Amino acid sequence: MENIPTTIVIFGASGDLTSRKLIPALYNNFKKWRLPERVNVVGFARRPYTDDSFRAILREGVIKFSAESYDSTVWLKFAEMVHYFQGNLDVKEDFPKLESFLQLMENGPSNRLYYLATAPEHYSIVASELGAAGMAKQGMDPVVWRRIIIEKPFGRDLGSAQELNRAVHAVFEESQVYRIDHYLGKETAQNILFFRFANTIFEPVWNRRYVNNVQVTVSETVDVAHRAGYYDTAGVMRDMFQNHLLQLLALVAMEAPSSFSADAVRNEKAKVFESIRPVALNDTVRGQYAGYRETDGVAPNSQTPTFAAIKLNIDNWRWQGVPFYLRSGKALARKTSEIIIEFERPPHLMFHLPEGSDFSPNILSMCIQPDEGIHLRFEAKLPDSAQEMRSVDMDFHYGSSFSGSLPEAYERLLLEAMDGDASLFTRSDGIEASWNMVDPIIQGWEAHNDPPLHNYPVGSWGPEDADHLLARDGRRWRLGCTDEKDVTPTAN
Ligand code: BG6
Repeated sequence: MENIPTTIVIFGASGDLTSRKLIPALYNNFKKWRLPERVNVVGFARRPYTDDSFRAILREGVIKFSAESYDSTVWLKFAEMVHYFQGNLDVKEDFPKLESFLQLMENGPSNRLYYLATAPEHYSIVASELGAAGMAKQGMDPVVWRRIIIEKPFGRDLGSAQELNRAVHAVFEESQVYRIDHYLGKETAQNILFFRFANTIFEPVWNRRYVNNVQVTVSETVDVAHRAGYYDTAGVMRDMFQNHLLQLLALVAMEAPSSFSADAVRNEKAKVFESIRPVALNDTVRGQYAGYRETDGVAPNSQTPTFAAIKLNIDNWRWQGVPFYLRSGKALARKTSEIIIEFERPPHLMFHLPEGSDFSPNILSMCIQPDEGIHLRFEAKLPDSAQEMRSVDMDFHYGSSFSGSLPEAYERLLLEAMDGDASLFTRSDGIEASWNMVDPIIQGWEAHNDPPLHNYPVGSWGPEDADHLLARDGRRWRLGCTDEKDVTPTAN
């Protein structure tokens, strides 16, 4: 395999994802000498580009989205590998034509990585045309592989995800399929398993005996902006919960796999999804930010939620009775993706607490972004007092512990796909299980209009009901990664 070149074919090459994420990621991997020895990148799209005009557009993307690593000499070398093929996904004949183009360019056996960066409605058709043109067939002698990367959204409900899985499996074996969830490519998300299973001191307390509750917050300050057309048909549950939030949850909640192989890791995740108890509608909150309906591309009476909070339970021995609270939304007060593990209070407190103050539990904050790190909060005696306590932190920051900035998620994901390691990609059963979990919530909301869709001001923490969801259990949302650690974010 070492000497066999690899061709990466990007379908939907004139789109935003290609210039914003994929090409910068490939360019950075090239610059770091991480790409296999001989790689070709072929963009497939309808626009009448030449190799040169395509390269010029991609160069602008790298300058814009990866400014700190742009180097004109490196770019020129990288650009030599980039080619353009003008084709139409709806024209059957364009696939055999692409195959001839690739064969001519490859001039011998070559691995192929097909990247579906198109609109989701084209996923099945591209997969089946690749099959029809014989482009999915792998070779035994010499060994050449064919793999396909599929961007999210993978379906818009369980039925369509199953249908898409069937269409893809009609052509590709599951081992050839790499479904992207870019959160899994983030260093900090990858580190969750290392934190838990490369250390001995955390796992003994990682269960119902010591953990009081777990919170996952993925909040964004941005609104839906130019993606309104897509977003209004999706909403926060499909856009963020079905994928990113549930993947983070699985990494926190799963058992230790027996190895770091793709199947061992994904088997454990699948067990978590299977153990999630169906979520009651009164354990959900949904909101829409003020002004959303005035956005271009949004229906004037849109019921699409831009915020949701849910409480869920995992029915297994480790997590019985430990609530998991998840929330995500757009146009909120802060951009932060974080996981909070709130530990139990000591069974007996012998220290005096000042009137009106509450004991602060230990909190472990896993900061996925933007201030990547891990913080452990514990109580300390306030110096020069008899028995007053203060909360203090043990902090790990990527910025100060490691040199260099963190790589973009797509860099790692593309390398892993070329390497044939699917641990950081979602498997068909995981995708279906996560739709199985979110579908009834979306359907329940739509059928019963319950809970009502609350309006929330831009720059707030979502509807007040999100606070009530925890308050009724005697808890509150916590923040452990922003400057305002442990402020109680009040709605509005
Ligand atoms: C995408 C969603 O999958 O993730 C977007 O479609 C969202 O709506 C984005 O903004 C968030 O990703 P990140 O990496 O900025 O947290």
